[in-house]
Amino acid sequence: MNDIPVNSAFSERIYQILSLPSPLQKLEDALFVANGLKVFVKRDDLIHPEISGNKWRKLKYNLNDAKNQGAEQIITFGGAYSNHIYATAAAGKYFGFKTVGIIRGDELNEKSSETLRFASECGMKLHFVTRTEYRDMRENPQNQLSIIHELTGLDINNSKVIPEGGTNHLALAGVGEMFEEIIYQLGSAPDYIFCPVGTAGTISGIIANSDKKTKVIGVCVLKNGQYLFNEIDTLLKNTSVSNAGRILNPANINFEVLWNEHHGGYAKKTLELIEFISKFNAEHDFSIEPIYSGKMFFAFYKYFSSLIEANSKVVLIHTGGLRNLF
Ligand SMILES: Cc1ncc(COP(=O)(O)O)c(C=O)c1O
Repeated sequence: MNDIPVNSAFSERIYQILSLPSPLQKLEDALFVANGLKVFVKRDDLIHPEISGNKWRKLKYNLNDAKNQGAEQIITFGGAYSNHIYATAAAGKYFGFKTVGIIRGDELNEKSSETLRFASECGMKLHFVTRTEYRDMRENPQNQLSIIHELTGLDINNSKVIPEGGTNHLALAGVGEMFEEIIYQLGSAPDYIFCPVGTAGTISGIIANSDKKTKVIGVCVLKNGQYLFNEIDTLLKNTSVSNAGRILNPANINFEVLWNEHHGGYAKKTLELIEFISKFNAEHDFSIEPIYSGKMFFAFYKYFSSLIEANSKVVLIHTGGLRNLF
């Protein structure tokens, strides 16, 4: 456990609303048996239908921080299809925060996507801004609230800003709890963990809370995502201490990211990917989707025999996002 104090009313509400810990499910496949692999899926997609997967993990300590500061309003950022906007709007409804979404694209409105429609129904106030305004607000952590106020006219009293994708040092603590659940459920740390990489908050949280024994393998879902390497570095430096209180030492960090498994770029699909997902979903009792988990599972099946040592325990993180399937 980390030592961040959790607001007690907030904690009680978490267990009323969310299904935690999420199950760790064995993935059966004759291919794995031949290699002596034990493969499991961490079913974070089951945490909640609207605040699913890594969204909850990254929001938890941000919302807790807001409660502890007495903030009543959460302001955050995203695009018209953002899972983070969707989950933050739902979390606001369940945990009693007003929410504001600053949306990239002043040509949009609340009917432009299912995400925006849902967010607005949850009570999220949406502000549509130009790409330049969006960048100015998002990339200026100093004076961020006053810049937001200047550009949108929003009332910023009692507000907390959560960054795009929910990724910051507080997100890493929530992801660390997922790793602790895995160790408890497996009885030991896994030899490998696979996860998708978008803004790199999830992989950074896993790296920050695992040690050298576990190799963390990220699958980047964006084209030319190599800049995220610096993002991981910055997040780890700003965190410096893991959930377990271990001082992060670069010598203990054991990870790699597969940068070329994006199938053309963010939200792009190849025929190979679509066929893989359709077959996988037909043969299993749970589903993967094409934007994050599908690309990660695809890369795992493609590379496991060359990347993974025989007789290892492997955990694949299902980060949710299943509404993208439909
Ligand atoms: C469903 C889903 N899976 C995975 C990711 C990637 O996680 P991260 O942005 O922390 O790298 C995201 C985006 O945050 C997501 O929405």
